[in-house]
Amino acid sequence: MKHNFGAGPCILPQEVFKQAADAVLDFNGLSILEVSHRHKDFVAVMDEACDLVKKALNVPAGYSVVYLQGGATLGFTIAALNMMRDTKKAGYINTGTWASGAIKEAKKVGVDVNVFASSEDKKFSYIPKDFVVPTDVDYIHFTSNNTIYGTQFHNFPKTDLPLVCDMSSDIFSKEINVADFDMIYAGAQKNLGPAGATLYIVKDEILGKSTSPFMPTYMDLKQQVEKESMLNTPPVFSVYVAMLNLRNLIANGGVKAMEAKNIAKGNLLYNELDANPLFNATVAKEDRSNMNVTFTLTNEAHQEAFDKLWKDAGIVGLPGHRSTGGYRASMYNALPLESVQVLVDVLKEFTRTNG
Ligand SMILES: Cc1ncc(COP(=O)(O)O)c(C=O)c1O
Repeated sequence: MKHNFGAGPCILPQEVFKQAADAVLDFNGLSILEVSHRHKDFVAVMDEACDLVKKALNVPAGYSVVYLQGGATLGFTIAALNMMRDTKKAGYINTGTWASGAIKEAKKVGVDVNVFASSEDKKFSYIPKDFVVPTDVDYIHFTSNNTIYGTQFHNFPKTDLPLVCDMSSDIFSKEINVADFDMIYAGAQKNLGPAGATLYIVKDEILGKSTSPFMPTYMDLKQQVEKESMLNTPPVFSVYVAMLNLRNLIANGGVKAMEAKNIAKGNLLYNELDANPLFNATVAKEDRSNMNVTFTLTNEAHQEAFDKLWKDAGIVGLPGHRSTGGYRASMYNALPLESVQVLVDVLKEFTRTNG
């Protein structure tokens, strides 16, 4: 048995994999891979996939859900284009690679970006806190979970301005108040489904208000909402599996139950890292992510022996991001507590034999 701690695309529940595999062979007589996206059977899938997002996150009235392509990377541009108003200025928090990517893309489409908070001074190992949110900008943008560094906002920035969040790596992992946001976007491939779809939850009020002189039809969320994610061919399979996964999430207690499980997994691993003299958890304690746990060996000479031990235990996906090194245990929703226990046992065993 494998224990997949990869950062994404990541595991989904085994039942979801099984149902998805069945639908590849038979979805109402055709393969889900060959069905027309305009067929009523797929339109029903898209409707359910959107409704289940609303149900799972208690999305209030006045919000729409769409599934697009392009990943969260295109989301950086879509967010900037759709949220641009009279000042053409925006406030961004820089908490690492993905947040920097969002800043870069916003600048490219003409947004005057004010980076009013950043953790770059300490290699993005914490979440900035003592910042003043600007008031002379069109919107505020932040990244709720920093997949590469292992930091997570446990309290969201407070502002009266429109708030936009890249929630790619912690959406559906904990309860959130959608009403705090004007736009949430997330690549599917962590807690939602296979790569290919990108989820947008948008407040209807913001649609059609962009002041951007450049607005490709595909990136105009007003048009996407009006066309119910069917402006062009949507990522059919990814949306189908997202629907299956959301059904599974809701049947198993929803986001509330998932949050409790994710906290338990985080506590199990962080407690061991704190107690174990051969490992260091790398980020500020209060900003630790329950999705991506980053750590290093106190003695790098141990690397080969440690790598052999975790690989022998069936663990995969543990090396840190190529830009940071070290280790990263990604523990998305579908990763069972038992897999985290296997990793903890490996850490203990390593220290018993090498400490
Ligand atoms: C927080 C975050 N934002 C953006 C991205 C980029 O997503 P995509 O590859 O879907 O464009 C990632 C990818 O891991 C991510 O973790």
